[in-house]
Amino acid sequence: MTERSSRLTGFATLSRSERLDALKDWLPEGTDASGILGNTGVLSGDLVDRMVENAIGVMPVPLGIATNMVVDGEDVLIPMATEESSVIAAVCNAAKRCRATGGFRTSYAGSLTIAQVQILDVADPHRARLEILRRFEEMRDLCNQVDPMLVELGGGLRDVEVRLLDGRHGRMVVVHLIVDTRDAMGANAVNTMAERIAPVLADWTGGRSLLRILSNLADRRLTRAEAVWPADEIGGAAVVDTMLEAAEFAVIDPYRAATHNKGIMNGVSAVVLATGNDTRAIEAGAHAYAAQSGQYGPLTRWEKTADGGLAGSIELPLSLGIVGGATRIHPVAQLALGIMRAESAGRLSRLVAAVGLAQNFGAVRALATDGIQKGHMALHAQNIAIAAGAEGDEISRIADAMKARGEINASMAARLLAELRT
Ligand code: MEV
Repeated sequence: MTERSSRLTGFATLSRSERLDALKDWLPEGTDASGILGNTGVLSGDLVDRMVENAIGVMPVPLGIATNMVVDGEDVLIPMATEESSVIAAVCNAAKRCRATGGFRTSYAGSLTIAQVQILDVADPHRARLEILRRFEEMRDLCNQVDPMLVELGGGLRDVEVRLLDGRHGRMVVVHLIVDTRDAMGANAVNTMAERIAPVLADWTGGRSLLRILSNLADRRLTRAEAVWPADEIGGAAVVDTMLEAAEFAVIDPYRAATHNKGIMNGVSAVVLATGNDTRAIEAGAHAYAAQSGQYGPLTRWEKTADGGLAGSIELPLSLGIVGGATRIHPVAQLALGIMRAESAGRLSRLVAAVGLAQNFGAVRALATDGIQKGHMALHAQNIAIAAGAEGDEISRIADAMKARGEINASMAARLLAELRT
């Protein structure tokens, strides 16, 4: 066996096909890596190379459409990119069941993004705090010089907050720049502002600036959605009651809340990815927000309405953009934004929140009634057949046969495939 080294000198400077050659000792035997990775689809090879370092190809994920959605009185179709079956079906189903009550109503707190500047070794932090607040206008001028285009579009520094935090290295002065980033997610704009203003703040306070970076706990970009599902749309009063009991579990137990919120993020992240936005930023913000009371809890709330229906609501920070980053250069992201008519970051955020709520409705209803596996495995049966080696029309024949037997698993798929082929 040859000794392999991960020290691939000069790898970054190679072309994509040269990179595959350089990987030959690492590729699983018998794989046609250039066949799998050679075609980069709608992303030109050049774009792939510019988007990330050491690129060898793309990782395609299915893109589907959530139908039936009505958001703020308007019918919308929402593209979702996900590798998980039943995610899109659950949203379509939940949206259909609340059309009669008008679908989803939403609100959006605005596009204020927070950047943090950490200042250490300040002798008199309280005085430093007041000094910074007093000089807000100077700060605004300096910060706004960083991105004149943003200012032209109505954005820029709006406010400053100064927090004093005690840690093992003494008291820190933490300055929040609160910047209206309009239709952008805004990371680049606020990070540049933070880097520009940090030495000035260090000078004013007599301290030493260290970190200068945006916060993903985007609690100035809260987005909310709510909807009501009539009892007879969801299986009657008994189902409403069991769904409330199921939802309460997430309120009192972080183990359950993590899974409850994971289900919400199935929908949220799928729209975020489809639009070329930063899924990790949204995930980090959502989970941090879910823990803000000190106990990690659910992002949604469920109640019974006066006439026995089920009212659901969601609130989460959504730092999304429709300009900048991959959103602008990825043709699928552009198309997705066009399909959903998301003409502003606010509208996109509202649609994403509505999908998160629909997703949670679907999961809680399934869990509180049949259990999740029945519907999920029915949709997943084709994937299991493919994993067992089925091809062409074998796939649906094996999936259907597994469903008919009520046994959907890898060994059944392998057995049926062997039978089919003999
Ligand atoms: C699976 O991807 C998501 C669920 O676990 C969500 C939930 O439990 O609420 C079904």
